[in-house]
Amino acid sequence: MIETITELRGLRERILGWRREGLRIGFVPTMGNLHAGHYSLVALARQHADRIISSVFVNPTQFGPNEDFTRYPRTPEADTSGLEAAGCDALWLPTVEGMYPFGVDLAVRMRVPGVADVLEGAHRPGHFDGVCTVVARLFNQVQPDVAAFGKKDFQQLAVIQQMVTDLAYPLTLLRGEIVREADGLAMSSRNQYLSAEDRVIAAEIHRTLQDMRAQLLAGASRTSVEAGAALRLEDVGFSVDYAAIRTPDLAEPDISPAGYAVPGPRVALIAARLGRTRLIDNLEFALG
Ligand code: PAJ
Repeated sequence: MIETITELRGLRERILGWRREGLRIGFVPTMGNLHAGHYSLVALARQHADRIISSVFVNPTQFGPNEDFTRYPRTPEADTSGLEAAGCDALWLPTVEGMYPFGVDLAVRMRVPGVADVLEGAHRPGHFDGVCTVVARLFNQVQPDVAAFGKKDFQQLAVIQQMVTDLAYPLTLLRGEIVREADGLAMSSRNQYLSAEDRVIAAEIHRTLQDMRAQLLAGASRTSVEAGAALRLEDVGFSVDYAAIRTPDLAEPDISPAGYAVPGPRVALIAARLGRTRLIDNLEFALG
């Protein structure tokens, strides 16, 4: 049976008990409304730890004022049984008051400069401050040996890795592959906001990412590939926040003095809205 914990004191006792037994602790933080993408992270953490704890907390500090915090889907019963089936040992379900004892506005805040300022950070000001603020708290509460995050949120992983390295958190990050629907759409709790029509259109994001890769490998310039991808998506009804080719640290790839793209690892990233629903996805590949 999975154990559900709602008080910090109970969490500390559980963690201490596992530590006394010499067990390695794996952690999977989430905002709930869980799907196969989340459960794949539980399976990944299992490979590196003896006990797995997941958190479900819809974190108010990472939503902008006009974003979907209040309507974000909350499905605690389904999440609990799904986590149990996935092999999770404990579920940490903090309250907003428990997570932010001095109130959300008085919270000590984390800020990761640089990697958090571009792309998602530029389009969702303060978003990564909120993510890091809650992830820092969660790490201090759970004190895991390993913590699993999905590559679906590629930039989030880069930002959290920066925080972990810079603040010397004694844990290792695990990077889970993106789990997709049959038509390529990356699984997301937000997909259910889509109308039946938009759900079909949404698969165009993954096809566009594959096309960006193909064009870049065929020698097209980064900027022309980015512009073409944005146009293609706008044509089928998206409002595009960005379609970008970056290095894994989210920097713009270097151009050699001769004008050629310097070979190396790349990631194509897209953020685009269909109506009120904002979708993100990415594709990693190697150039050259
Ligand atoms: P949430 O969106 O619930 O995602 C929790 C974890 O699941 C993240 O690491 C995310 O990258 C991963 N994930 C989501 N969809 C995935 C998919 N299709 N394939 C693989 N992994 C997927 O990300 C958050 O919550 C929050 O920002 C959080 C880190 C919990 C902090 O509040």
